Amino acid sequence: MKLWGGRFGGTPDELMERLNASIGFDWRLWAADIQGSMAYARALERAGLLTAAERDRLIQGLEAAAREFEVGEFEIRPSDEDIHTAVERRLGELIGDPLATKGRPRPDSIALRRSSGQGSGQSVAGKLHTGRSRNDQVATDLRLYLMGEIPGLRQRLSELQEAILVKAEQHLDVIMPGYTHLQRAQPVLFSHWLMSYFWMLQRDRERLDDLEKRVAVLPLGAGALAGHSLGIDRHFLAAELGFQAICENSLDAVSDRDFVAEFLFWAALLQIHLSRLAEDLIIWSSAEFGFVELDDAYATGSSLMPQKKNPDSLELLRGKVGRLVGHLVALLTTLKGLPSTYNKDLQEDKEPLFDALDTLQLALPVAAGVVRTLK
Ligand code: ARG
Repeated sequence: MKLWGGRFGGTPDELMERLNASIGFDWRLWAADIQGSMAYARALERAGLLTAAERDRLIQGLEAAAREFEVGEFEIRPSDEDIHTAVERRLGELIGDPLATKGRPRPDSIALRRSSGQGSGQSVAGKLHTGRSRNDQVATDLRLYLMGEIPGLRQRLSELQEAILVKAEQHLDVIMPGYTHLQRAQPVLFSHWLMSYFWMLQRDRERLDDLEKRVAVLPLGAGALAGHSLGIDRHFLAAELGFQAICENSLDAVSDRDFVAEFLFWAALLQIHLSRLAEDLIIWSSAEFGFVELDDAYATGSSLMPQKKNPDSLELLRGKVGRLVGHLVALLTTLKGLPSTYNKDLQEDKEPLFDALDTLQLALPVAAGVVRTLK
């Protein structure tokens, strides 16, 4: 089953199919994809393109698919090119759609008339694609997904700031050397040094709040690139899905990945702040300095040299910068010189984003734990 198979006689090369497939990583968008489709079904009904009964059937089918994902029973087939294909394929099976059947109308011949939606012979599941392309769909899904991750990141960032603040308050009278050029310069308070990181993180927080409003802009309704004339209420869709605004230009809507680039810059700079914190503590935990001691929970030992306590947690906070800066450079390079509008190159936006999220979701709480338990 291919969403786009209508005009094709031959089958794709097997290696081409592997290169083309994104399901191996974009399955993570399942909840966003289903949420987006539910809202779209409601919008189609409001535009008179589906009956209320058809809308309800679609939503029930999508709910059933979501339950399968939740309990780990959604079966991804080798032929599911991406998450959008997988969900639509399963929806068809669940509510009895003949997407998989021969003779399915080509996407461009699907009746797009304003009608009761009945009696066209068109499958109900297939109608969900009315006026929608995977181009506006995937951009919507990725934005929704990121919107869902931002509150958790904000929370982890606050927890790290709080750990720093508490530690600083507990050590208000500890004096230490302050350094420039890593040479002793003037005496400073340990708390003053700690709070310098609090303020770096505060700027990260502000940047996150600021970029969030550019993530929460809705591309859905832009179709493949040129919108459509079906009268689908995009403000309704935005409100249903929690977007703050709608993309104003359909060509831009399907190809704008600035929000991913901004997020990756944000992530890289945050990780750089963690790396600098880590570097200070690595130096200070050495026998030569002996200013701080890392808790056992965040260190490892050596089998050969029992005197060692290695600051692996901190070294990894420092080491992860390479991949995060790499993700930013990778995406910027992908975007450079792309012709308008959607090009398959854009499928390369997801893995950097997912990996940046996964990395920070570990790095932030580990950094907080290190600070909290530091002696
Ligand atoms: N898997 C694709 C992606 O991640 C979905 C969009 C496909 N669009 C297309 N015109 N082939 O970008």
